Amino acid sequence: MKLLEGKIALVTGVSRGIGPYIARILSDEGASVIGISRNEEKLKDIEKQIIDDGGNAQMIPFDLNKSHRIKILVQKLSEYNADDVDILVNNAGIEKYSDYVDNNYDSIQSIINVNLLAPMELTRMILPKMLEKGSGNIVNIASLAGRKGVAYNSIYSASKAGLIKWGDGLRQELHDTGVSVSTIMPGYIDEAGMFYDGGFPAPKLLGTSPPQKVAGAVLKAIKTGKGEIIVNNGPIKPLLALNVFAPEFGNYIVKKFGVVELSKKRIKSND
Ligand SMILES: NC(=O)c1ccc[n+]([C@@H]2O[C@H](COP(=O)([O-])OP(=O)(O)OC[C@H]3O[C@@H](n4cnc5c(N)ncnc54)[C@H](OP(=O)(O)O)[C@@H]3O)[C@@H](O)[C@H]2O)c1
Repeated sequence: MKLLEGKIALVTGVSRGIGPYIARILSDEGASVIGISRNEEKLKDIEKQIIDDGGNAQMIPFDLNKSHRIKILVQKLSEYNADDVDILVNNAGIEKYSDYVDNNYDSIQSIINVNLLAPMELTRMILPKMLEKGSGNIVNIASLAGRKGVAYNSIYSASKAGLIKWGDGLRQELHDTGVSVSTIMPGYIDEAGMFYDGGFPAPKLLGTSPPQKVAGAVLKAIKTGKGEIIVNNGPIKPLLALNVFAPEFGNYIVKKFGVVELSKKRIKSND
């Protein structure tokens, strides 16, 4: 019997990027996957791929920017016989490179909505049944940008820092309930996803990781209940530790590595 046989996994952001890798690895382990994103056509493609490979998948188109309407999404789950979610992967995310002053209220709100409010609200609605059963896994896809702020992408950094600390608090609150809360923190991901789509190479000293590594980290989180997992190729852990004690030095290193320069290029490519 496969590890996740009989389990229902709800995964947001499955239409492209890293999400399809997460959906497929969970399906390969036997889970029935319920996928959420806006693009219906791409959702159908992923659903077909999973079913053609012998898995179980159903897709629900939904705009997570409307985080105040997540109750409607959760009501829809019962129509799909999927209201008993065992695994929730909050993966959907958006970013926008710009000079901070070029944002407006709506652009700030949409990043916070999709990246932070939607995971919080979805979890609030899904959690009671997990607590009733005494088992479940909540996995949040954050980012290393939530550990060290990124210039010209500071709202994204704020949303991911919020996700990391919300998970940190919730994990302690749910200790001993049988429900685990894990946070995955990827660095630059190659081959697919928002960084790859930007079309610029990553700073050499930080490196990139393939999307399969993020999917593997999600599976590891579910298997072990591990609280926080970093997915990155370069020497990031000592640098993050150093940044806690000497943030100015952290700023120097980030600039030296070319992160700020890369962010500036990505604003121009947005234009
Ligand atoms: N790629 C990286 O290098 C990297 C690094 C660190 C962290 N991450 C994190 O990893 C996660 C996945 O990123 P990715 O690289 O796969 O991004 P991506 O390629 O841009 O895909 C984002 C996914 O989120 C969905 N999404 C966006 N806005 C949505 C909305 N309003 N409602 C519902 N779904 C929405 C998109 O689907 P629709 O457009 O169809 O709605 C898509 O499936 C994100 O949380 C991201 O912050 C990525």
